[in-house]
Amino acid sequence: GSSGDDTPVELGFDAVSKSLADRVVLPTGYSADVLYALGDPLSADLSEYQNDGEDDGNWDLRSGDHHDAMAFFPLPKGSSTSDHGLLAVNHEEITEVYFHKNGPSVDDNGMRPMAEVLKEQYAIGVAVIEISKTDNKWAVDKSSSLNKRWHVNSAMEISGPASGSPLLKTALSNDGISTFGTINNCGNGVTPWGTYLSGEENFFAYFTLDDESSESDELTRYGMYSGTRLFNYKDWDKADGAEALQSRFNASKLGETATADYRNEPNHFGYIVEIDPYDPDSTPKKRSAIGRFSHEGAWFAPAVEGQPLICYSGDDARNEYIYKFVSAQNWDAADADGALEVGDKYLDEGTLFAAKFNDDGSGEWLPLTSDNAALQGMSADEIAIHTRIAADRAGATPMDRPEWGGVNPTNSEVYFALTNSRSSSSGRGQGGGSSEARNAANPRSYDETGDPSVADGNINGHVIRWKEESGDAFTWDIYAFGARAAYTDPQVNISGLDDSNDFSSPDGLWFDQRGLLWLQTDDGAYTDVTNCMMLAGVPGTVGDGSEVAVGGADGQSVTTYSGATPGDSLRRFLVGVPGSEITGVDMTPDNKTMFVNIQHPGERGDLNDIQSNWPSPSGNALQDGIAGHRPRSATIVITRDDGEAIAI
Ligand code: FEO
Ligand code: CA
Ligand code: CA
Ligand code: CA
Repeated sequence: GSSGDDTPVELGFDAVSKSLADRVVLPTGYSADVLYALGDPLSADLSEYQNDGEDDGNWDLRSGDHHDAMAFFPLPKGSSTSDHGLLAVNHEEITEVYFHKNGPSVDDNGMRPMAEVLKEQYAIGVAVIEISKTDNKWAVDKSSSLNKRWHVNSAMEISGPASGSPLLKTALSNDGISTFGTINNCGNGVTPWGTYLSGEENFFAYFTLDDESSESDELTRYGMYSGTRLFNYKDWDKADGAEALQSRFNASKLGETATADYRNEPNHFGYIVEIDPYDPDSTPKKRSAIGRFSHEGAWFAPAVEGQPLICYSGDDARNEYIYKFVSAQNWDAADADGALEVGDKYLDEGTLFAAKFNDDGSGEWLPLTSDNAALQGMSADEIAIHTRIAADRAGATPMDRPEWGGVNPTNSEVYFALTNSRSSSSGRGQGGGSSEARNAANPRSYDETGDPSVADGNINGHVIRWKEESGDAFTWDIYAFGARAAYTDPQVNISGLDDSNDFSSPDGLWFDQRGLLWLQTDDGAYTDVTNCMMLAGVPGTVGDGSEVAVGGADGQSVTTYSGATPGDSLRRFLVGVPGSEITGVDMTPDNKTMFVNIQHPGERGDLNDIQSNWPSPSGNALQDGIAGHRPRSATIVITRDDGEAIAI
């Protein structure tokens, strides 16, 4: 394929087959090396990680776990350098069974060793690492003064409408402005002025509520409960000798372990955090104007001089919403090489909207503002902090778990991954206890065999897209529906996926600067056949397909709008290793080096049943690991053997 100003980009590789192997699979003519794996030292003073769960007390200077979204920032700043830069990497979570020597420990009184808790707290957050290419080989510069780990104990600030709110005041934050840390960092974003945005996703899962009297409508709306519905898998508040930084994870009214009032601590998480990767001494800012929810990331439309900036966000939980933020200030290209003060200008003031997808293929943006009567007088700080409640009241459309979004740089059409929606609890479109009917934008419900007469939910997910119209309107359709190629019902495999491009549970989604669409999967519904994968697509345009009537177990037919069958314009480019999710992708400005994360290989196993030994100590990502080795999340570097641009 070729790339030029007026020639549409074309795919120039052969699709790879589905794979269950314990090695990364790429098209012929591509190589991949491990660049940055769990435990790797970010200081020349530290020893190499022995991959045995060791704790040298320096995990704030090592690679965290569960590498997620990432972005490449050229060095020097503002250049288009493609062999030297900073890589900002989210570390979403940990796999306890491999991360600790013998898994996590808890004593007879339910207390956890402080050192172990600190190690966990350091391994989650964001890393900035300096990397460069010498003799065609990329490496981390361990001695760089720009290497930085941001974690849950790092000092940060909350800016925007929530800043200083009474809802943010706690024993650790008397002013409701200062805060500590970032957590469960999942999707990301890059601002038009060259800073990094990191999304705080499942923050609710780190908090304890001791008793039912501590519950509130606001906490439960964000997934925080007491008793058997408590979803805290960390117990950081039960660290032996805990200080405020640990105790705050008990948000109870009368928590046994809470020695001060931390009830508002959950309100400090769930934001987009802006980090200046070029300034390790700066104080990151949580941009509350973009709302608080299980935030994946924030993806900008191309900045236009003299126009407001626009970014899109998703809330990844069943039946949650898609959001748009529009800045109050118009873009001034003189700000293009800015730092956090430019973020103060564009990201602290503006309007947040939630998306309503109408059944006729139109849509509208619902303003989440105090003067929207539907919000019943919520104040600006309440809207910024209890954004889900504001969007409920506004009447936003519940979606099948919005994951990442992206904006096509060639036409500003917006794509969002709706990863799946299973009926295991109170989800949409299932036989028992359905809370939301199928709708045009989320039309499918079927079972593991692809049978729509058995409604288990949207097992394989889809990718929705829209184009903005005048006013607060948009027009939408569905780019592609995930499905097994073996599903024969055309109302389930609506996009006609075949063995070269069938996928399930789209999650990571990214447009490169040439306009190629990259999809990454995080799946439990197809892993009997293939490990998770990444595909490359040449996207069409909204409205290039047709109407499709989708029937379901409820006997009702729902009309949806399917994009053109992707056919050969969507191809599988990469397959990962058992238990891994493929997430995080970026390229150097010359499109010749691609960075991809292999997250939590072997996640469903443990030391007695290691299901992946990847990566190989050789550093070649395309080789099997060595039996008995613990798997490690890692960033890999993909290049073409002939040195040309990736994928075309
Ligand atoms: Fe961490 Fe919803 O992905
Ligand atoms: Ca994800
Ligand atoms: Ca996911
Ligand atoms: Ca994951």
